[in-house]
Amino acid sequence: MTSLVVVGSGIAGLTTALRAASLGAEVTVVAKAALEDTATAWAQGGIAAVTFPDDSVEDHVRDTLAASAGLGDAAAAGIVAAGGAEVIAELISHGVVFDTDSSGRFVRGLEAAHSYPRVIHAGGDATGLEIQRALSAAARAHDGIVVREHEMAADVVLDGGRARGIRLLRGGVLHADAVVLATGGAGALFAHTTNPSVATGDGLAMALRAGAAVADLEFVQFHPTVLHAPGAFLVSEAVRGEGALLVDETGHRFVLDVHPDGELAPRDVVARAIADAMAEGRQVFLDATSLRGGTAENAAFLASRFPTIDRAVRAAGIDWSAQRVPVTPAAHYLMGGVVTDLDGRTSIPGLFAAGETARTGLHGANRLASNSLLEGAVFGSRVGAAATSAPRSRGRVGPDAAGPGPLPRQAPPRADLPFSRRALQRLLWDHAGLRRDAIGLTRAAATVASWRASRPAQVADAAAAEDDNLLLVAEHLLAAAHARRGSVGAHVRSDDPFTSGKTAPLPEATLIGAPC
Ligand code: SIN
Repeated sequence: MTSLVVVGSGIAGLTTALRAASLGAEVTVVAKAALEDTATAWAQGGIAAVTFPDDSVEDHVRDTLAASAGLGDAAAAGIVAAGGAEVIAELISHGVVFDTDSSGRFVRGLEAAHSYPRVIHAGGDATGLEIQRALSAAARAHDGIVVREHEMAADVVLDGGRARGIRLLRGGVLHADAVVLATGGAGALFAHTTNPSVATGDGLAMALRAGAAVADLEFVQFHPTVLHAPGAFLVSEAVRGEGALLVDETGHRFVLDVHPDGELAPRDVVARAIADAMAEGRQVFLDATSLRGGTAENAAFLASRFPTIDRAVRAAGIDWSAQRVPVTPAAHYLMGGVVTDLDGRTSIPGLFAAGETARTGLHGANRLASNSLLEGAVFGSRVGAAATSAPRSRGRVGPDAAGPGPLPRQAPPRADLPFSRRALQRLLWDHAGLRRDAIGLTRAAATVASWRASRPAQVADAAAAEDDNLLLVAEHLLAAAHARRGSVGAHVRSDDPFTSGKTAPLPEATLIGAPC
């Protein structure tokens, strides 16, 4: 019987586990917090899937590739879009209850850059929570799945170049025929993020230490609309899909100045328009005051369609049925990750990756809204099947997919900026955020290198292990952002804004800089 260790318990990890267990594998799911404590549980808008007769897989593929700024992989997009209806049926079979109307049809929403309202949801704006609830219950109930919560994975165990299990932080090894990394993204790298605090890039860091190929780490998606108040709560794109507008303090719909689709332009365009307006000293608001009839009717609609956001916004003292909501962008999703083929195989035999941890090529330089839950489920299922079967060829995962190495160390460490997670998050926000340049990236890389050099050899606890992981991912992200000249999708170089981004070394002269 094949044995499998799955690290991570969001939609990708649990779909992998459930599929592999259904095929007879012995599966262990390792979660560093509670099984339910994942980014999946925080997903609001919904899951994009072709489930209506007047929609088509071809249109979903076209939208995905258009949003990707030309860098999306058509084969990956085809697999994901074609898998939508099956994924929804599978989730329902695991107990997920999607919102339906009085005739039993899915209630559907529109989100940015979709040509069709194909986003279906649960609990109004609690889609991820409902999916996480159902998948966690299914995994806990499955005889073939052992759940190990509050257990942090430290490293992939390699034997003869093949993944054979994982080493646990508090000691011991879990041996397995295959290892699946599904730990989500690394939003905790940034001062402002929509991600839960568990999103510390652990799987990506484990893959890097094991020598797996990674790519596209420069492509970080910033969500345009997070409540600009302590707590930085996500205000779903689905609110704009229902007609909410983005305005500055004068009421001007400034996104229309940069894109004809305005509020529903691709996410990278909208996020940058907001960041640029804020950089000019303007305030930015989401105006949901006119979605339905009068204020009372609007308030009732907002409370029933977006109950989670309604609670958060009102807790911040804003009656959004009558008042505009101040918003700001925040780091949301990592398009890059561990390079995989279309069955989740990485460049290391026996090592797989799924969901946000993986880079299948689906998202290119910018992810289409609500494609991530779908991606996690479609690829989770494929990875579960592939990891359970005998090892096969590594397909298109090749050495050419390896990312750039760390930036050359150009400056001495600075003693006056000691490492803290907060300092790292500020550094990345300032220098690897919505606009980057070579000088800032180089300085940030020097600072990260000096912090890495001063880390103790022994990892004291889980928080220190997370910090090590964040620093390693930061080093590679900064190098990738430095290596990709030009601007494309979510990666915008203010020192090269016009050319479409190509990966190339910069002239040596631009590498000179003091650490921040
Ligand atoms: C949102 O609800 O706006 C987020 C959806 C997504 O990231 O796909």
